[in-house]
Amino acid sequence: MSVPHPYWLRDNCPCPECRAPRGGQKLFRIGDLPDGLSAVEATRDATRLAVRWSDGHRSHYPAGWDAPAGPDERTEHAKRLWEAADFARGLPEADWATYLADPEERIAVLAAVRRSGFAVLRGVPAVAGQVLRVARSFGYVRETNYGELFDVRAEPDPANLAFTCLAVAPHTDNPYRDPVPTLQLLHCLRNDCAGGDSGLVDGFQAAALLRAEDPAAFDLLARTPVPFRYRDRGVELSAEKPLIGLDPRGAIREVRFNDRSTDTAALSAPAPAELDAFYAAHRRFAATVLRPELRLDLRLAPGDCLLLDNTRLLHARTAFEPGDGHRHLQGCYADLDALSSTLAVLRRTAAVLDELEALFEGEGSREYLGEAVTLAAHMLQAAALARAADAPPALVAAALLHDIGHFRGGGPELTAGTGDRHGEGAAARLAPHFPPAVTEPVRLHVDAKRYLCATEPGYAALLSPASVRTLAAQGGPMAPDEAAAFAAHPFGADAVAVRRWDEAAKDPAAATPSFAEFRPLLRELMQP
Ligand code: OGA
Ligand code: ZN
Ligand code: ZN
Repeated sequence: MSVPHPYWLRDNCPCPECRAPRGGQKLFRIGDLPDGLSAVEATRDATRLAVRWSDGHRSHYPAGWDAPAGPDERTEHAKRLWEAADFARGLPEADWATYLADPEERIAVLAAVRRSGFAVLRGVPAVAGQVLRVARSFGYVRETNYGELFDVRAEPDPANLAFTCLAVAPHTDNPYRDPVPTLQLLHCLRNDCAGGDSGLVDGFQAAALLRAEDPAAFDLLARTPVPFRYRDRGVELSAEKPLIGLDPRGAIREVRFNDRSTDTAALSAPAPAELDAFYAAHRRFAATVLRPELRLDLRLAPGDCLLLDNTRLLHARTAFEPGDGHRHLQGCYADLDALSSTLAVLRRTAAVLDELEALFEGEGSREYLGEAVTLAAHMLQAAALARAADAPPALVAAALLHDIGHFRGGGPELTAGTGDRHGEGAAARLAPHFPPAVTEPVRLHVDAKRYLCATEPGYAALLSPASVRTLAAQGGPMAPDEAAAFAAHPFGADAVAVRRWDEAAKDPAAATPSFAEFRPLLRELMQP
């Protein structure tokens, strides 16, 4: 049979010699592969592709290993480009308390920042410093010369137009920095002056319009590095980047737009004809950005926190009159990589929990090794006993999941383990998602039975008939040296605790909680 390109295929070998068990990092370098590598033998069935290589290595690829990735998340292809009217029915927004409590709401907010370039959190306490809490709820604060956070209000000796009461035209922040902060947060503490409304413009949409209407101008702006500069006491920042940044395939990936900070005196090769073309293009892009239909107007109220993609959205404000009132925002910077990671982990966590729940409710509700309860009821009862004993969350989770090695199914997140070594199998399936305090007692719960039968007189008599039958296959009671080693294992005592609940959790008359009750506890353990 034909196989895909040999180096590509081998580069993706998932075996434990090629990949670290935990994070899947590659353990070989690309140059280590022999010249002239080829597949000597390849067989494919419904579940996997098996390959024997010319250098003797063997690889097994599970079905679906080569599912193609979507488009680069940072480019226009992964975005929903917008005009103001697209939000006539409401902004992407959420209540802060709900966002904190409900992972689905967090997913919705973070996904909105990625897709639309912004979201508004309402009800963030209008107290100084909270903007940092918002940033830390999904990522890391990017400290700059403006501090960890900065106050946006009229100041007596402003270093920046933002710190006056004048209007601020649509712009991206800090274009003079490389790398530019990819996220900006603005949290409103007070806003009771006349004026001081906010405006947002989708810079990708403006760039896409320019490309459609004046492709030559678009190309010129994408190719011309523009110097940006910021100076203040003790600060001298500069960066040279095009106003429209493209990815290697030509898709829009970044917009930098800030008239205040361009340092065009430093433009290279200012031949008059080139400058003519540059200024015509620059002015055309500026006019596009200012089209009224592109500008989304909103007014921040105390407690509102705006999250925006600073590589895409331009933000603005109208002038305000200090008069009797005050306008005070606090801002900080953060980055999209951590936001995307948090979003991916939230989604992955939800997928793993959904898979586990489906296993409990499907396969798990069938008869189990001739016991009086189903496998699902058995594990749920074990978890209920652990919870009733006030066991720490990791141990409740271990009790709940201790027998998932008996499940054959499992989706892309939980690939099936081996049936008979079911402690090992379960631990291996859980290891990518749960800490050792969960996976180790699960892994050791079979050995714990052998340990207890060896060390506790009368323990064997407690075993159910099915458990007695499997004991022999599992190796029988431990020999004294094996039992001593087990007792010394850091998770030996936890495994014994799980084992005792395991033994007691086979009561057809006992109340059995639902899997859903344990979702929050499991989710908590899955977040780093
Ligand atoms: C800023 C800014 C806008 C505002 O601080 O970067 O542009 O609403 N502020 O005051
Ligand atoms: Zn700004
Ligand atoms: Zn078991």
